[in-house]
Amino acid sequence: MKWLITGAAGMVGSDLHHALAMRGEDVVALSKSDLDITNSRCVQKAVGDERPDVIVNCAGYTRVDAAESNEAVANAINGSAVELLAEAANQGNARLIHISTDFVFDGRKRAPYEINDVTAPLSVYGRSKLLGEIAATHAKRSTIVRTSWLFGKNGPNFVEAIRNQIAKGTNPLRVVDDQRGRPTYTPHLAEAVIRIANREADGMLHYADGPECTWFDFARAIAEELGSGVTVKPVSTSEFPRPATRPAYSVLSTDRYERITGVRPESWREGLREYLEVRGSRFEV
Ligand SMILES: NC(=O)c1ccc[n+]([C@@H]2O[C@H](COP(=O)([O-])OP(=O)(O)OC[C@H]3O[C@@H](n4cnc5c(N)ncnc54)[C@H](OP(=O)(O)O)[C@@H]3O)[C@@H](O)[C@H]2O)c1
Repeated sequence: MKWLITGAAGMVGSDLHHALAMRGEDVVALSKSDLDITNSRCVQKAVGDERPDVIVNCAGYTRVDAAESNEAVANAINGSAVELLAEAANQGNARLIHISTDFVFDGRKRAPYEINDVTAPLSVYGRSKLLGEIAATHAKRSTIVRTSWLFGKNGPNFVEAIRNQIAKGTNPLRVVDDQRGRPTYTPHLAEAVIRIANREADGMLHYADGPECTWFDFARAIAEELGSGVTVKPVSTSEFPRPATRPAYSVLSTDRYERITGVRPESWREGLREYLEVRGSRFEV
């Protein structure tokens, strides 16, 4: 099976590339400078030249707050470009696997979001990702994998944000305790995507590590694993106003993933330990 990854220099794209390369799979990994997915001609040419069996779209406009003032760009990258990938996938008879987000939900539920739950994004980013989901369904062989709260070695992420705060000497750390979700280590997501592709699963799936927690819980785990000795204090979202509204509850149900693959999601805490081994568990105060 031949794979083509877009956005291959990002957090998910680079870990997926690594996981596939380690298996000896035939993989073409294209970063933004190799392939701008908003360029129709380049998308057609890349897919036509490479003739992949599976295209995994890991490209995206992921700056959630900046998207509020850059709606057209977010929609172009997260929405219309996915239409181009779907068309190219159809011409080459490839499967399109598209990565989406828990931010398509409004967070008003208090039980895990199922794949068919009603979407109602609260932000420009979430709406642009929803456009991408709709576009991805235009591929004849289409799989959408929603995931959440990613951290991985090739991107800025929450673990680094907490580490930076600790390094600056912030103590106590004040972290929001009224947003619940499922942190996910990107190498775990990469394995999940490979399993999903190998089973040729169509339609919507959710993959996220377990168990669910709040950002406060996650920050406390990071501070502990770093051996930092800092105190983490729970605060409410209203104390940290941000341009984009986040869902208060965005726990994804991974039932369909578990049914299809027969595998339970990994632990984010284990992922955090591996992450700190790989990226270094140091901080300077
Ligand atoms: N991060 C999260 O917590 C999270 C949660 C749920 C879902 N997701 C989804 O997961 C996917 C991967 O995200 P990530 O966390 O790996 O983000 P990331 O590290 O920002 O990677 C996205 C990559 O896409 C590239 N890109 C941007 N515009 C492009 C274009 N026009 N053509 C080709 N490549 C382009 C970016 O390049 P530049 O950096 O050079 O612009 C970057 O390398 C995205 O679809 C995102 O919405 C992320």
